[in-house]
Amino acid sequence: MVTKVLKKMEALRGFIQIPAGNRAELIGNISLPCLTMLNGNPARLDTRGRLWSLYLKNKFLTDTKIELNKTGNGYQIISVNNVQESAVSESNRQNDTLLVSANLESDTGSWYKVFEGDCLKYFNEGSVIDVDLTFFDPPYRQGKDYRFFDDNQPAGKYWGWIKEIVSRIYDATVDGGAIYFMQREKNTEQVLRVLRKTGWRLQNLIVWKKKTSAVPGTFRFSKQYQIIAYATKGDKPRVFNRLRIDLPNLPEYKYERENGVYVTDVWDDIRELTSGYFAGDEAIRDHEGNRVHTQQSPVALLLRVILSSTLPGDTVLDPLAGTGPALVVAHQLKRNSIGIEIDSRYVEIIKSRLQSLRPADNIAKYYDYYKYTPNLKEIWPTKKATPEQKRLL
Ligand SMILES: C[S@@+](CC[C@H](N)C(=O)[O-])C[C@H]1O[C@@H](n2cnc3c(N)ncnc32)[C@H](O)[C@@H]1O
Repeated sequence: MVTKVLKKMEALRGFIQIPAGNRAELIGNISLPCLTMLNGNPARLDTRGRLWSLYLKNKFLTDTKIELNKTGNGYQIISVNNVQESAVSESNRQNDTLLVSANLESDTGSWYKVFEGDCLKYFNEGSVIDVDLTFFDPPYRQGKDYRFFDDNQPAGKYWGWIKEIVSRIYDATVDGGAIYFMQREKNTEQVLRVLRKTGWRLQNLIVWKKKTSAVPGTFRFSKQYQIIAYATKGDKPRVFNRLRIDLPNLPEYKYERENGVYVTDVWDDIRELTSGYFAGDEAIRDHEGNRVHTQQSPVALLLRVILSSTLPGDTVLDPLAGTGPALVVAHQLKRNSIGIEIDSRYVEIIKSRLQSLRPADNIAKYYDYYKYTPNLKEIWPTKKATPEQKRLL
């Protein structure tokens, strides 16, 4: 492995000069020039030990610190710009963006990075690459009170912003990688348009029918679901694990199910945290008992998304991370994760959720529910729930 800082010409022209001292380790005796791969993309090593790839061109800014590793079929590069081993204090703020916390190679064998600031900045500077799955849960433009987001902005401006982020996610995603795009059902048309225009291929329009009371309508039916558009980069997903759940039988069913059912595109078994009469223990609250984030996604939802579309060691991105459930679940499942959040209050919450697992965040209690999934042991590398955790269900 080599760690180095990219020079201007390397960043601009799309190559990495492998330092002379690392040639034996990273190139060995192979005859040059030769073709190879870099992060799954075509690459070429020239006779001077330079690794070229179109993938690198304008990918990183000058002075980006990178790590280059030799892999089974070529090379892997990651940006480690600004990465530090522990939380960084406010006084170390650089411009208005800051890597708040990075945990590299933790005890679970996976890493997470939490960035504070505007997600587009981090895409621009090349800190977000090789993403296998993105959970995309933007503010819904419904007049909520965000500190750093105008949730009343005009529709055109809002959808332009959404499209830009979705497009940057696409660029940062590996072939076959997935996005789960959350929205209100009334915006389905815009969601599908954004996905199509940014190159994504729709696989399912998931209906998340929430286990809470409906929002009443006066001249139309009351609303009880939101959409989750699941799409991939390319026609087929790189990973799709067919989950089976131990869904209780409906009273009118004649026979007991022996081994559960496959998850369909209607998710009606996951409780929403942010509306209805009681949001439960999982909702993070201030000292007065008020929920600190009014759009906090449930861990059970992230569990389903991450289990369906990744393998251990994959990288999960949440560019609008809020309270960070995507990172909290990814970490327990030994997936790497990148979270970006503009509000420092939520960043603090993400950090504390990652550093010390709350019982309500522990996914072990759901293990039995997925026990009929054929490859569960491969995709969920963890212990079964203790009796105490099961009681939390
Ligand atoms: C709908 S919330 C996400 C909630 C999250 N799924 C959770 O469970 O907590 C959207 C988040 O995006 C953040 N945000 C808004 N604009 C942003 C930007 N430009 N870059 C990064 N985060 C942003 C908001 O502060 C908010 O926390």
